[in-house]
Amino acid sequence: MTPIRRQVESVRAAYGSLPRGLRQHVARVAREARDLAARWDADPDRAELAAWGHDLFRAHPPAEQLRLATEAGLPITEADRREPVLLHGPIAAVVLRERFLLTDDEVLAAVRDHTLGAPAMPLLAKIILLADKFEPRKRRRDPVLREIRRLARRDLDTALLCWADWKWVQERTFGWASHPAHWEARQRWVAEHHLDRAMPPILPLDSSDPDSLPE
Ligand SMILES: [Fe+2]
Ligand SMILES: [Fe+2]
Repeated sequence: MTPIRRQVESVRAAYGSLPRGLRQHVARVAREARDLAARWDADPDRAELAAWGHDLFRAHPPAEQLRLATEAGLPITEADRREPVLLHGPIAAVVLRERFLLTDDEVLAAVRDHTLGAPAMPLLAKIILLADKFEPRKRRRDPVLREIRRLARRDLDTALLCWADWKWVQERTFGWASHPAHWEARQRWVAEHHLDRAMPPILPLDSSDPDSLPE
């Protein structure tokens, strides 16, 4: 067995004491992530390792998540205090590094940022975030996620941005707050998208051109 397969097995074994539903979700994410990794020329074993790591602390009670995050010395924002579940990725990244002795920084970044995203994400992190969002059960529940999955096979960055747009609409529709860290990431993705498309910056209003002025 290769060292990476051994790590996958040891992280997977930790789900023995976690809820069955969570274990099944993570197994679906692992399959989805392997598939997406193969399409983008990333290592499917590294993707699977990150997938098994991503929700290790998802089922822990909020008070426990806050305690673990404090113990790990993680920065805790107001938004995290309101919704400690947001800390489960960062906590898992620390535990994987310290207890499971994982040293692959891209795997750790993928685990840490899988909930909110980050302004700069390595390929593996994009794969894990997306696989987590459109694993089969979630895309059956919401057809938009099926479309985002289709897009992810052609263009990962645009798929990420579409997911962020969908999330934004959900947040406004249901009156949920947008997490500042996610919003920062989203702004960067939008700016990069515009750069990719070589769009000119938005110009100031031109007072000599009546058509450029508001009604
Ligand atoms: Fe998660
Ligand atoms: Fe997940």
